[in-house]
Amino acid sequence: MAILVTGGAGYIGSHTVLALLERGDDVVVIDNLSNSSRESLSRVEALTGKTLTLYVEDVLNRDALKTIFEQHKITDIIHFAGLKSVGESVQKPIEYYENNVNGSLILLDEMLSAGVKNFIFSSSATVYGNSEIIPLHEGCKVGGTTNPYGTSKLMIEQILSDVALANPELRITCLRYFNPVGAHPSGKIGEDPNGVPCNLLPYITQVAIGKLTCLSIYGGDYPTKDGTGVRDYIHVMDLASGHLAALDHKDKGASFKKFNLGTGVGYSVLDLIAAFENASGISVNYKIVERRPGDIAECWSDSSLAAQELGWKATRKLDEMMRDSWNWQQKNPNGYLE
Ligand code: NAD
Ligand code: UD1
Repeated sequence: MAILVTGGAGYIGSHTVLALLERGDDVVVIDNLSNSSRESLSRVEALTGKTLTLYVEDVLNRDALKTIFEQHKITDIIHFAGLKSVGESVQKPIEYYENNVNGSLILLDEMLSAGVKNFIFSSSATVYGNSEIIPLHEGCKVGGTTNPYGTSKLMIEQILSDVALANPELRITCLRYFNPVGAHPSGKIGEDPNGVPCNLLPYITQVAIGKLTCLSIYGGDYPTKDGTGVRDYIHVMDLASGHLAALDHKDKGASFKKFNLGTGVGYSVLDLIAAFENASGISVNYKIVERRPGDIAECWSDSSLAAQELGWKATRKLDEMMRDSWNWQQKNPNGYLE
């Protein structure tokens, strides 16, 4: 009995694999390493003292999936594999739809053939678009995504809902992540962005360590408490435990479920800088520039459904997120490249 984790070598995947191994689950990973390296999983094995099976393959490769389902008694799938850069998705829409949507379709098809019943999908708060309702709850309208990445998540959620309707024996869960940050407290695994980071916290830590010179704050004139964008930052270890809670919940409730995974608290860009400076003792050089196209003013979660149904709540606070991100950055200035 094993859990198949697609994209398990990536940022959220590696932390979730660690949590699964720690509690004694057997884990099989499929990852094409397009945005990750084997090193993350080697470190997960070293941290846990457990081993896992890694297939360096693409989820679009049916034969590879068939082999995995033949070789292992898979009971559950956690589907992280996907491309995730918003800006790149605007430049390369076909690649994004092919990888994210087709990859999910092929995986689902092979999963059905293999008789696997439980599926957890990495969705995103981006499916809510620019909602007028804050905090966002699962009943809020979805849609209005502004880029192919976000639209691919919305399309996959729709596909999953249809597949669940046609196959009521399945248990499909969409987890809508808010803004994942932080790293394992050991500093051995963490987020390793390619090139210049697009997301806020990796940019801040790279300015702090001297790899980048100045953070551009995208907009100081939003209708928020200090004019900068407000988001719901969640520690990646809390996200990992959210997946475990969703796995444990699988036999209860409807065949198709969706849950927000956030803290329920919104922090501005300036809040984040202040918290980071406090945790690191380093002052971050920044300037306020134009808004970034496609950004929304504020977004945070109502995560009470996950609390009620999954018995899950994010417990790590902002200072812990900052401390662990900084620890990872300091110990791995070049990410997984030694
Ligand atoms: P990541 O890029 O670190 O991890 C994704 C992993 O999938 C990588 O290891 C990559 O090599 C692999 N992969 C990509 N396409 C593949 C394919 N076709 N076949 C096999 N492997 C493939 O990203 P992450 O931050 O860990 O995100 C994991 C999932 O969560 C993604 O689906 C992402 O869209 C979603 N998500 C992420 C965030 C975030 O801010 N990090 C927010 C919301 C949702
Ligand atoms: C982005 C994606 C979203 C994705 C999420 C998590 C966009 C438009 N949205 O969300 O689809 O689900 O990442 O991966 O890209 N900021 C700066 N300077 C920077 C970087 C960011 O001021 O250099 C600000 C942003 O304007 C925003 C906040 O920091 O207010 C967070 O930005 P970011 O980390 O990119 O996440 P989101 O925009 O929330």
